[in-house]
Amino acid sequence: MSNTETYRFLKACRGEATDGPPVWFMRQAGRYMKAYRDLKTRHSFLEMCKTPDLAAEVTLQPIQALDVDAAIIFADILLPLEPMGTGLEFSAGDGPVIPRPVKSRKEVDKLQPVNAEEQLGFVGEAIRRVRGEIEGKVPLIGFAGAPFTLCSYMVEGGKSRDFNRTKLMMYEAPEVWGELMDKVCAVLIDYLKMQVRAGAQALQMFDSWVGCLGPYDYAQFVLPYSQRVLEALKDTGVPVIHFSTGTSSLLELIQEAGGDVISVDWRIYLDEAWRRIGFEHPIQGNLDPSALMAPLPVLEERVDDILQRAGGRPGHIFNLGHGIFQHTPVDHVKAVIERVHNYRHAR
Ligand code: CP3
Repeated sequence: MSNTETYRFLKACRGEATDGPPVWFMRQAGRYMKAYRDLKTRHSFLEMCKTPDLAAEVTLQPIQALDVDAAIIFADILLPLEPMGTGLEFSAGDGPVIPRPVKSRKEVDKLQPVNAEEQLGFVGEAIRRVRGEIEGKVPLIGFAGAPFTLCSYMVEGGKSRDFNRTKLMMYEAPEVWGELMDKVCAVLIDYLKMQVRAGAQALQMFDSWVGCLGPYDYAQFVLPYSQRVLEALKDTGVPVIHFSTGTSSLLELIQEAGGDVISVDWRIYLDEAWRRIGFEHPIQGNLDPSALMAPLPVLEERVDDILQRAGGRPGHIFNLGHGIFQHTPVDHVKAVIERVHNYRHAR
């Protein structure tokens, strides 16, 4: 499929009928691929993100190796934290580390505004290079973290199991939380618009950890901010996917916050999630990334179940419910793509 009008992925984002569901994978570029591991022996992860030639090369690795229906720019949701002033490091094994976490109003006040064009321009440059390479083949997705998930990293200082510090800031100092979210929203809007100007044809907003909240706190402390970002992106004209995990109990609120496509994880049947958001609204998901590592017959059964539940309706984008794991066999990824593409719903 060649131009913007006919790309299977973009049509599904608009809820239009396609010859079959499009398929791509979160973290489709990364350590499960040998080409990525080879490059990683010579460059650190952050160096790859910040060097447009390298970021473009990694973005293209899955496009060359797999028959996926979309590319996603190689970057990280945490990149905006560096120009905001908290620092950012990736330590082998521990994942991301934020050396100067946000603990109180003092640190919130010190956060810097960001000019995405200047300070995160390497992402825009990588997007321009990738577009030049994949024109007419697949569309390119840009992305950023959602306000909650980014703020939770800033407050926790890294990965967290219980998000206790984040929740305590909401409860003890709601006005400080509000100021932090305001600052992050402003950066995200500018950053995502910059990505669209550079050539991103769709966007995904990752709220990876918001499933730690109950509906009462989501509605009060998160929804208005996610809504602000998603609302501000409407005039870009590109579809936006609103991604989260562990949020089966928050689906209606997530949808209220906005986004053209709602991405759901495997903790809910696809058809149940789709019924709740309304079959007229596009949906993405929802294979368990662990199933990609399962014996092929088990994996195929899970894939078929999702396709059957999608029922051949327009507006389903086949994907995982979260990113690919490091030890996933590439052959299994290929098998899923083929199965999705060959699937013909029995009407
Ligand atoms: O999907 C893609 O192919 C695009 C690339 C992409 C990366 N990170 C590359 C990456 C995307 C979309 C992200 C988003 C991201 N980053 C999220 C949201 C998605 C999600 O998984 O929930 C989050 C929470 C982060 C923060 C982050 N960055 C984590 C938790 C880690 C993992 C640390 C680890 O050791 O597993 C990273 C590092 C990271 N981001 C890697 C890649 C390929 C691994 C880096 C390496 O090579 O060691």
